[in-house]
Amino acid sequence: MRAAAAFARLSPPPRLVDWSILALVVAEVASGLLSFTIGTADGWYVLWFHRVAGITLAFLLCLKLYRVRNRIRYGEHWERSTALSILTAVVAIATLATGIAWALGAVSVESRVLYWTVLSVHVGLGLALVPLVLAHMSTRFRLPRGTDFTDRRDAIRYAGLFAAGALVVRAQETATEVLDTSGAERRFTGSKPVRGQGNGSFPITSWVADDPDPVDPDTWTLSVTGLVDRPLSLDYNEVDPGTERRALLDCTSGWYTVQDWQGVRVGDLLDEAGVEDGAEWVRFVSVTGYRWSLPVDEARDALLATHVGGEGLAHGHGAPLRLVAPGRRGFQWVKWVERVEIREENDPAQWLVTLISGFD
Ligand code: HEM
Repeated sequence: MRAAAAFARLSPPPRLVDWSILALVVAEVASGLLSFTIGTADGWYVLWFHRVAGITLAFLLCLKLYRVRNRIRYGEHWERSTALSILTAVVAIATLATGIAWALGAVSVESRVLYWTVLSVHVGLGLALVPLVLAHMSTRFRLPRGTDFTDRRDAIRYAGLFAAGALVVRAQETATEVLDTSGAERRFTGSKPVRGQGNGSFPITSWVADDPDPVDPDTWTLSVTGLVDRPLSLDYNEVDPGTERRALLDCTSGWYTVQDWQGVRVGDLLDEAGVEDGAEWVRFVSVTGYRWSLPVDEARDALLATHVGGEGLAHGHGAPLRLVAPGRRGFQWVKWVERVEIREENDPAQWLVTLISGFD
């Protein structure tokens, strides 16, 4: 009886709970994916929102599961769509559990499910959740009504749930520090440290399917073209690896590493080629066609690395030349670079190219 009374006090009306679960799932996927584009600490609030909204969603899911508990427990009103409902609930719980386990440090960066980190599994489950929630809602579709939004107590309930989510996230941070779990070592992106120097000290990962055969440095050339006075074509021995830079590589599969990179400063290449007026972007293109662009000023400061941790770059890490772009996420550090193109325009199609590059 007491639980029922607490439930009635805490819970917004059922229809509102269902629609807010959908809204929060969409917000979670959006903030999660957006966090993949953030590499500097001034974007911390995107992941903070993701975490707090994730815990708020967990509360709402508890309210919902409590509401439908009898239907599940006693098999009341079992229909074909019930299987879909249960699958949706299982995937939602698994998404929340993998996210929370990662943040708490209950799993480390070495804990793998087959090849994937638990964070990558979390992302996959989160993506699967959107069609599942939509399909689940379509089986019992009920549009929200104007009257669903008129009770001020509901606004207070939602504010209370969100504030409780923020408190749980704070308490988690304290717990990970006190217990000294791998959660305490995370960057604001959620990534955990991988220590050591050189090729063997950090994992080889490719964004989606990019995986070419080793590139032969004897036949490979680097071209610098586009809005330049003097286009360049350099072979491997003409690339001056004289610049050293310590830089942090933060991979979206949930790890980061600080390495000493060595290579040619992009600014030096641009000066040699002579950048024309109107140049705004520098596009780095891999032998696979995979590519990413940086604004000219940022690109000048980037490095095209031939070495890492004092060793010649291994094929898996992008030999003969890999972009080192501090403050950007790992998938933007283009591997196996063969073209540097100076352009007036940014390149929105790069998003699509990164997703399909490597698929035949
Ligand atoms: C598909 C896109 C998604 C991406 C890219 C993503 C990314 C992330 C990342 C990077 C973290 C680690 C945060 C940290 O360690 O500080 C995280 C944690 C979390 N995510 Fe997601 N996520 C996604 C979808 C979802 C969805 C759909 C949900 C909810 C159903 C969700 C709920 C959570 C929760 C609850 C946490 C842990 C929060 C905490 O305990 O502090 N995520 N997610």
